[in-house]
Amino acid sequence: LNKKEVEVIFVKANGDHIKAKGKVGDSFLDVVVNNDIDLDGFGACEGTLTCSTCHLIFKKDDFDALPEKATDEELDMLDLAYDLTDTSRLGCQIILSEKLDGIEVKVPATINDQRS
Ligand code: FES
Repeated sequence: LNKKEVEVIFVKANGDHIKAKGKVGDSFLDVVVNNDIDLDGFGACEGTLTCSTCHLIFKKDDFDALPEKATDEELDMLDLAYDLTDTSRLGCQIILSEKLDGIEVKVPATINDQRS
């Protein structure tokens, strides 16, 4: 059985909308990588929770509806991200579900790589 496709829209700081497809079970980081989306420095640690470059900003309703709340490890890393908001998460920790189809997430203008 094919896994269901989910559409994700990344909104860049300059207002560009990038539409991408992912599958249920993919993380937002997987979607960026698999679609070859050009976001400078995004996902530098490849999902190992040691950078904050996969920082994404969700709409309040979407944020509240995300099934998993951030772990302490994620929150520690998020603290180091630039432009942190109340609805920020790390994209490598958010897994696509059918419910998220058509979701729009903002990519912050500045990406802070903790490893450099
Ligand atoms: Fe580094 Fe998500 S890719 S914390």
